[in-house]
Amino acid sequence: MTVYNFSAGPAVLPQEVLQQAAAEMLDWHGSGMSVMEMSHRGKEFISIYEQAERDFRELLAVPDNYRILFMQGGALAENAIVPLNLVGRKAQPATVDFIDTGSWSAKSIKEAKKYANVNVAASAAPGKYSAIPARDSWQLSKDAAYVHICSNETIDGIEYHYVPDVAADTGGAPLVADMSSHILSRTVDVSKYGVIYAGAQKNIGPAGVTIVIVRDDLIGHALPVCPSAFDWRLVADNNSMYNTPPTYGIYIAGLVFQWLKRQGGVAAIELQNIAKADLLYDYLDSSSLYANRIHKECRSRMNVPFFLRDESLNDAFLAGAKERSLLQLKGHKSVGGMRASIYNAMPVEGVRALVDYLKEFEQQHG
Ligand SMILES: Cc1ncc(COP(=O)(O)O)c(C=O)c1O
Repeated sequence: MTVYNFSAGPAVLPQEVLQQAAAEMLDWHGSGMSVMEMSHRGKEFISIYEQAERDFRELLAVPDNYRILFMQGGALAENAIVPLNLVGRKAQPATVDFIDTGSWSAKSIKEAKKYANVNVAASAAPGKYSAIPARDSWQLSKDAAYVHICSNETIDGIEYHYVPDVAADTGGAPLVADMSSHILSRTVDVSKYGVIYAGAQKNIGPAGVTIVIVRDDLIGHALPVCPSAFDWRLVADNNSMYNTPPTYGIYIAGLVFQWLKRQGGVAAIELQNIAKADLLYDYLDSSSLYANRIHKECRSRMNVPFFLRDESLNDAFLAGAKERSLLQLKGHKSVGGMRASIYNAMPVEGVRALVDYLKEFEQQHG
């Protein structure tokens, strides 16, 4: 029976990618080496790295005045790395603006407080994290070093479907986005952002790789205390090889990028992602057993939290799902209920199988 893995991350990867990696595990392209065994400075790995970078740039149409950095430490490390690299552009102590839309922006806020004055310009807390506060309600600072958003809240299931314009109200502050859980799932106008960062373990590849897209003029301002391996200037000048990069993770990410290009690229996968999300939300909305609490205009296409109106059925629901090889549907412990993460590599058949099961369970228990 086909297994469908709805994990929020580390998450499902395309079968073709895993098969190719398995075939190349012991001997990459006749080199006699596994990619894991190669020097990051050797010509074999450099060719893997350069291809991955080129493909990623092409997939997201990253403009020439942006650098793509392959780093380590995950998105949580970037929560520190971003202020360490950006607040130095302003007199100290600098102010940074945040929009609080859920668990991951809250974590970013907590970390940034170590390095700057944090202004939470708007918070979704009063609405119990069910919607993004309206842009015209944001109390932005006049001289913020940057404005930070989490453009897809993986736990709460909230996604920005527009790029907020913040420059006019902040004296030109760059917009910084944590795109960990929806990067490559939709087209993005990179030029509207100063910095985009993402941990790999959803739409890119294995945990350990962290991709940072940063505009040239935002490089070179690291605070003296910034660890060298996290200084974007050093990372960029050394083509992400100031320290040893996560080589195997970058190789798998490169295979995922090639797979995505074979699917028709980001615009094509976005259409599939819209269709998959519609299928699931339409059923949830039509049902009297399940509910999704997020306002329609900001529902995530990648992470769909839902609740059984009778929570005493949760264990039976999960057990039945497991019997049908529908895995990892339990919601995050901080919000409870269920969550289906339907990243790029989740085929529409997986979402159909989930909806069939939702219906069947509702018929039995509704
Ligand atoms: C939106 C978002 N930001 C940050 C993180 C934290 O990533 P990491 O644990 O790789 O640092 C996650 C993890 O799932 C996430 O979904």
